[in-house]
Amino acid sequence: MTAPFVLPGAYAAPVNELKVALIGCGGRGTGAAFQAFNTGHNIKLVAMGDAFKDRLDDSHKALLEKFGPDKITVSEEMKFVGFDAYKNAMAEADVVILATPPGFRPMHFEEAVKQNKQIFMEKPVAVDAAGIRKVLKAAQIAKTKKLNVVVGLQRHYQANYVETIKRIHNGDIGDVINGQVYWNDGGVWVRERQPGQTEMEYQMRNWYYFNWLCGDHINEQHVHNIDVANWIKKGPPVKAEGTGGRLIRTGKENGEIFDHHVLAFTYADGSVIHSECRHFPGAQNRVDETFQGTKGTAYLSAGNYGTLKDWKGNVLYDHDRKNQPNPYQVEHDKLWEVLFNGEYKFADADYAASSTMTAIMGRYATYSGKPLTYEEALNGTVDLMPETLAWDALPKVMPGPDMYYPHAIPGKTKVI
Ligand SMILES: NC(=O)c1ccc[n+]([C@@H]2O[C@H](COP(=O)([O-])OP(=O)(O)OC[C@H]3O[C@@H](n4cnc5c(N)ncnc54)[C@H](O)[C@@H]3O)[C@@H](O)[C@H]2O)c1
Repeated sequence: MTAPFVLPGAYAAPVNELKVALIGCGGRGTGAAFQAFNTGHNIKLVAMGDAFKDRLDDSHKALLEKFGPDKITVSEEMKFVGFDAYKNAMAEADVVILATPPGFRPMHFEEAVKQNKQIFMEKPVAVDAAGIRKVLKAAQIAKTKKLNVVVGLQRHYQANYVETIKRIHNGDIGDVINGQVYWNDGGVWVRERQPGQTEMEYQMRNWYYFNWLCGDHINEQHVHNIDVANWIKKGPPVKAEGTGGRLIRTGKENGEIFDHHVLAFTYADGSVIHSECRHFPGAQNRVDETFQGTKGTAYLSAGNYGTLKDWKGNVLYDHDRKNQPNPYQVEHDKLWEVLFNGEYKFADADYAASSTMTAIMGRYATYSGKPLTYEEALNGTVDLMPETLAWDALPKVMPGPDMYYPHAIPGKTKVI
């Protein structure tokens, strides 16, 4: 066991070395570890945790090749595999990177806070209201313990968003009364069912297609754009209504998630944000956010766009798109600087939970085909997590005899 992180109390105490554990060693977790090391600070990766040995080993190999044994000190005993891996890996470190599929985030975040860890965690932060409530509770405890929490909603660390939204909040386009947020693209990977695989392993390998793990693509991807709307509106909407379904992606290999969701989110001041996400290969791709205010318009996107115009078309602000830093790097640069200074600065979990809850509320509305309020959604009692986490345990959603999974039917499905 390592010594606990020196918590900043009356004074900030600079730190010479920090030990990090990576929980969820897939694409993003490995990427986040790269970004941590690219900060140039004296960081050691001391433990790794993953449900699967092969995923952990691939990640370890890539990190070792790039950063060498001085930085990647993970011994065989410090490679933890399985559903309980997170607890053991966390115990070895001062800082944790939580990058599993989001279904596990509430459980992992709660444990990281319990173990007094400094935290970088990926979005979304849950898949259902039960998970969100857990995250909100742990977020409060993290604040009292002064544990830094950075969440990978990296637009908050991207200069075009920060600068443009600052100007929107200053009133440059008046009151924002309308908006449109999009994540429309072709969709994601499928991992073929393997002979001998248990249902639990199949779903874990194909986590994207199961709500207890992913929360549907409205949660997994579109949360980024919904989060921008909430950031601009300074809080979540009060109501969601919308429609969605499975139009194109209807195979056995596509689990239970929808391939499109279209919603109107109404905010407390009566303004309405249109939200749209779809996975239609070959159709138009669009991932961005637009807003209309009483005095003008805003256009934002992850491609470093941030433009404000008045209603005559005059440009009020146009963010310089050249030489912009990578926001995935910026979030780590900022976090690790604060950690090495022994400071407490970041508490991203609250807004991440409310943006994630908004995406979940959107899914509840499209799955049920009925409008619902944020309060109703947040108080929903449906908990998607299986009763038992083990390779031979059964998830709550199971395929029928034809190996197709049941999915929501608007008008019939009860979501909360
Ligand atoms: N901020 C961004 O732009 C961004 C981009 C990509 C992914 N993400 C997020 O990162 C997370 C991971 O996505 P990914 O693309 O890396 O997926 P991935 O499948 O590549 O990696 C997930 C890893 O977690 C492991 N895992 C699953 N359950 C686990 C458990 N209970 N305990 C320990 N390990 C477990 C898997 O085996 C896998 O190695 C998701 O929440 C995703 O939304 C964020």
